Amino acid sequence: MFAAARQTSSLAKRAFSTSSVNNTRVAVLGAAGGIGQPLSLLLKLNPLVSHLSLYDIRLAAGVAADVDHCNTPSKCVGYGPENGGLEKSLEGADVIIIPAGMPRKPGMTRDDLFNANASIVRDLAQAAAKVAPKARIGVIANPVNSTVPIVAEVFKAAGVYDPKRLFGVTTLDIVRASAFLSGIAGTAPKDTNVPVVGGHSGPTIVPLLSQLPAGKKVVEAGGEQLAALVKRIQFGGDEVVKAKDGAGSATLSMAYAGADFADSLLRAMNGEKNVTLCTYVESPLYADKGVEFFSSPVTLSSEGIVGEIHPVGELHPTEQKLLDACLPDLKKNIEAGVMFMKA
Ligand code: NAD
Ligand code: LMR
Repeated sequence: MFAAARQTSSLAKRAFSTSSVNNTRVAVLGAAGGIGQPLSLLLKLNPLVSHLSLYDIRLAAGVAADVDHCNTPSKCVGYGPENGGLEKSLEGADVIIIPAGMPRKPGMTRDDLFNANASIVRDLAQAAAKVAPKARIGVIANPVNSTVPIVAEVFKAAGVYDPKRLFGVTTLDIVRASAFLSGIAGTAPKDTNVPVVGGHSGPTIVPLLSQLPAGKKVVEAGGEQLAALVKRIQFGGDEVVKAKDGAGSATLSMAYAGADFADSLLRAMNGEKNVTLCTYVESPLYADKGVEFFSSPVTLSSEGIVGEIHPVGELHPTEQKLLDACLPDLKKNIEAGVMFMKA
């Protein structure tokens, strides 16, 4: 069902296809950053993209000139903030991916990025609501648990909110869970698809290892191995931040995950049925507990928007505990995003 690894390998196989199969415009906002650059490259290699608009407050023209020389069918154009560049980059966009924003340094939580990134995401969302209100939006900028509700509030204020078109990109958690579990279990990563539900920060990241045979064994064995695996999935971001030692957070694995996320939307838009991925969306699942946004498996419709939101399924008692711990934190993060916009 969850196809992060399989999808990306099929993406790599299709990368050098000589013909574009559709007419799809993708915009990347924050395209010159650590994530933005490799993500833009991977999107240029995706034959389901016909036009790529790269926007950043610096260096976008250079990144676009560079990426555009890759001999794949799509066209890539860069825009800076001058001369209405942001709005131009969004014209006709079908998919908008937002990695713009500050990354963490050691010792910071994702919530520490709120003050810097909330207004960046708000301003980009305001432009998107004006120019491309029907686009599908994937938010990468942290703290995702709060930036997605900010985008929702911007679109509501503009009178163009469609919850089916707004996604928080949590794909890196699924990629990590697959990498770490397959490393322990000796399974092929492409066949080791672990659903990860909740949100995208520490305890709000809830891996459902028991839902696949390799993970079930680890869950049932319990003990230190399980605790370490869950902790590594929940705090994989911290592992990278620490190793980069002040030079930022995950960029390359995030570009891989972001390209995989975008590919899911594009494949659904291009007629593939039953494209299902875990993603953070406005969700009824825990709305009665005040948690309006939640990541769970979502099957996309033929428009590449939210089709069916699936419940989390059967949980092992240890996973139920993780979910119980996730919900209050997630509620606070969502409220912070909503309050920011109301203020
Ligand atoms: P980075 O600093 O390398 O790049 C950020 C880019 O955003 C820069 O090029 C900067 O010029 C640009 N930018 C800043 N303000 C902008 C604006 N108003 N409009 C357009 N562009 C603007 O950072 P990075 O490593 O690429 O990380 C970007 C964000 O992604 C961070 O918030 C980080 O925490 C987050 N992130 C999320 C995930 C996830 O799983 N969702 C994973 C990794 C990183
Ligand atoms: C990640 O999970 O790697 C990102 O959210 C970046 C971070 O700050 O950890």
